[in-house]
Amino acid sequence: MLKAISKQREHVEQHGKHLIRRGWRTWIHWENLPWLNPLFVGFLKTTGLWRRGFANVLDVQVEQTELAFTDLPELFDGFRILWLSDFHIDKLDGLTEAMLSKVGELDYDICILGGDYSFHHVFTDEAAAHMQQIAAALAGRSEVYAIMGNHDHYAMAEVLDAAGVTVLLNEHRSLERDGHRLHLIGVDDCHYYKAADWHEATAGLNGDGFKVLLSHSPEFQNKIRHADVDLYVCGHTHGGQVCLPGGVAVVTCASVPRHCVKGRWQHKTMTGYTSRGVGASSVPVRFNCPGEITLLTLKAENNHEAHEEHEG
Ligand SMILES: [Fe+2]
Repeated sequence: MLKAISKQREHVEQHGKHLIRRGWRTWIHWENLPWLNPLFVGFLKTTGLWRRGFANVLDVQVEQTELAFTDLPELFDGFRILWLSDFHIDKLDGLTEAMLSKVGELDYDICILGGDYSFHHVFTDEAAAHMQQIAAALAGRSEVYAIMGNHDHYAMAEVLDAAGVTVLLNEHRSLERDGHRLHLIGVDDCHYYKAADWHEATAGLNGDGFKVLLSHSPEFQNKIRHADVDLYVCGHTHGGQVCLPGGVAVVTCASVPRHCVKGRWQHKTMTGYTSRGVGASSVPVRFNCPGEITLLTLKAENNHEAHEEHEG
């Protein structure tokens, strides 16, 4: 059953856009400077890069990664998580079909939607229709879970819930195989809504079991003790979305170290993975940073191949 909207999320949804606060950098933070986007669009259209940038958005890539853990129960060795985040789907014509076509070729055990379903910070009927189509396609293949991002309103959680998706709003679900458990801990958005709550999400959770934290943004790592989490899966950064040659992000949109902006990372004993996301936002283009469909395979450390991957 879908959890009721939290007071924090409800307050932010009702009072609309506020500043992203970063100390003195608040006043030069691009998310607080909406006039930058029209300038960038004008530049792209003038230089002929607009069409190429949008074609890059539709060229979403599959990224398959093995992650090894010493404390993963053997019965979950080889467990595959399909992670799809940052759809921004209502302004990206053709992306739903391109993504579902590639997902259809993949084998996995569960699917998790990582938030940011709308292009702008508003709920739209177009975004709801696309997400209903996506949820219907995915729900026939595995259990589907979802968390909420900084672009999302509670109305989208209601849409996903009605489509058969289990939406985790500061709560967890435990998967069990012959007495061994893997916990999916889903927190609400920490970037814009400031609504993520670790204690609420883990209430009633016993100490044993493998813990997977699902957070839209990697920034929640600043709020938890690394020892509490085995795997932290997130998105939000888009990997930079518009990058220099070599994939160097110009803007990361997250207060985390650069190595946490995309791909696999490690913080003490906690392994993290940040997806570049499926879609694009602010401006519907990508350069030197393709969108990503993420397939994570969890491996028990004792398995030889997993060990080599981890050491590499
Ligand atoms: Fe996003």
